[in-house]
Amino acid sequence: MKRIGVFTSGGDAPGMNACVRAVVRAAVYHGLEVYGIMRGYSGMIKGEFVRMDSASVANTVQRGGTILKSARSQKFMTKEGRQQAFDQLSHAGIEGLVAIGGNGTFTGASIFEQEFGIPTVGAPGTIDNDLYGTDYTIGYDTAVNTALEAIDKIRDTADSHDRCFFVEVMGRDSGYIAIPCAIGGGAEIVMVPETAMSVEAVIETLQNSYSRHKTSFIVIVAEGEEEGNVHNVARRVKAALPQLDTRVTIVGHIQRGGSPTASDRLLASQLGIAAVEGLMNGMKNVMAGIVDRKLMYTPFDDTIHKRKVINQSFMRMVEILSV
Ligand code: F6P
Repeated sequence: MKRIGVFTSGGDAPGMNACVRAVVRAAVYHGLEVYGIMRGYSGMIKGEFVRMDSASVANTVQRGGTILKSARSQKFMTKEGRQQAFDQLSHAGIEGLVAIGGNGTFTGASIFEQEFGIPTVGAPGTIDNDLYGTDYTIGYDTAVNTALEAIDKIRDTADSHDRCFFVEVMGRDSGYIAIPCAIGGGAEIVMVPETAMSVEAVIETLQNSYSRHKTSFIVIVAEGEEEGNVHNVARRVKAALPQLDTRVTIVGHIQRGGSPTASDRLLASQLGIAAVEGLMNGMKNVMAGIVDRKLMYTPFDDTIHKRKVINQSFMRMVEILSV
């Protein structure tokens, strides 16, 4: 293999630039030519390729967002779109790909390889940390710290006004962001999609805390929570406990931006290099990840279909610590 392409796809995540940098520098180090593919699969279809060298990624390791930009492409989900992407890659002589993204990205790469034989090795780039095959994803640590910073500020005002705040954090269908936010942010309750906590149980816990003369409360609600969105939860609690002065805060896309933490920079650098070396060693349809501190390559099929399990002891910790 002489020429590879790298792209970022799906929701951006802090540390994606550090990963692109690692891919480019590892490629240069190993004597490969490397092209940045702009805007994920959308740019691949249009042939938006930029030749990169070591200098192209200078001063990027600390930058949030992605210099390659990102997109979710509907067109790549069609055979016609993938054919166009293949034609563009063939024309540019790109023989292998490093995809930095999440499950949607790897699903696309896997189908693409089966149809056209272009090998892809993935690096997990998503704030959600919902990918099987790695303990942590690139961007997760930064997103949790960003959310926690917001929650600390909410706690100040909740305490001053004796209020109950319902705080929604991101995470798509998983509670990986919500749980450390609840533990680190001193929340009374955390609601995540993985466990079926009813609003009745939330009401009961808050009622008990109120009876113990607690005056302010934080409830963390993961955005994918099954009992409904954060506004519904807050409305139902207020109806049952009118004595609580309730407010809702959605932390939102702030969680996606900002300079990556040291952990995210390290992880991104490690997995970027591993992705290039995996491709060079003939790997395809696998994601580089860290499991129990060891580098692992997990088939896309597993990252897509297997579900990472939430550590239930963390849920218990929230209960114990909010007593
Ligand atoms: O996957 C990252 C993520 O931020 C999720 O947590 C969230 O559900 C989604 O992306 C939001 O997507 P968009 O930026 O398209 O609104």
